[in-house]
Amino acid sequence: MTPPNANALDRTNPHAVAPQVPANAAGRHASDWWLVFSKFLRQGTAIASVAPSSRFLARSILKGIDFDTAQCIVELGAGTGPITKELLKRAKPHTRVIVVEREPDFCARLRKHFPHADIAQADARDLDQLLDERGIDKACHVISGLPLPSFPADLRDGVIAASARRLRENGTFRQLTNMPYVYWKLYRNYFEDVKFRLVPLNLPPGGVYVCRRYRRKV
Ligand SMILES: C[S@@+](CC[C@H](N)C(=O)[O-])C[C@H]1O[C@@H](n2cnc3c(N)ncnc32)[C@H](O)[C@@H]1O
Repeated sequence: MTPPNANALDRTNPHAVAPQVPANAAGRHASDWWLVFSKFLRQGTAIASVAPSSRFLARSILKGIDFDTAQCIVELGAGTGPITKELLKRAKPHTRVIVVEREPDFCARLRKHFPHADIAQADARDLDQLLDERGIDKACHVISGLPLPSFPADLRDGVIAASARRLRENGTFRQLTNMPYVYWKLYRNYFEDVKFRLVPLNLPPGGVYVCRRYRRKV
């Protein structure tokens, strides 16, 4: 796992190759799109998405979060950062935002787009360690872009259990999907209260599960 000050380490690494990201918004969008698509072609279910989430999906997954009171929000599986962008726009100065992504090329892109953000190049399974290193006990919300349905069951159980354990009371676990409604039952196995929001304006049409009250002992 990469330590929390990995940003600094990477920037001083003489062998690190800076990704060429166009300066204008349209160029950045196309470049992110191509990066996600090419990773999907090579890695398939580990990426599980042909394109970055739309801004509509990103806004939907954040809807209802009280940013005035949120102390800590964790994003797991950030990709090139479409949700990160909306999250950082809304976060108040008192909100710790921790962005976790395993894929190095996506992390490089995230650091380019959001140079002041806390980007951890790490596996979501190490959530406990990531929070401990930062002296954070509980998060108010965990936002997941992880392809949880394609994870091995024990890994999925572990990531959801760790998220639930580190959520404060009344916190939410929010999961995006590109297969609307299909996994409702899956998330109902983990949480007592699961609501689904359809987001047609996404490629492909997607949605968001907002989960509360973990079922198992945490
Ligand atoms: C469906 S993409 C979502 C990307 C982005 N959140 C979005 O909305 O466009 C899933 C992301 O999860 C990342 N990922 C997959 N397994 C992971 C793991 N175990 N730990 C951290 N990130 C992981 C992938 O590298 C990929 O960036």
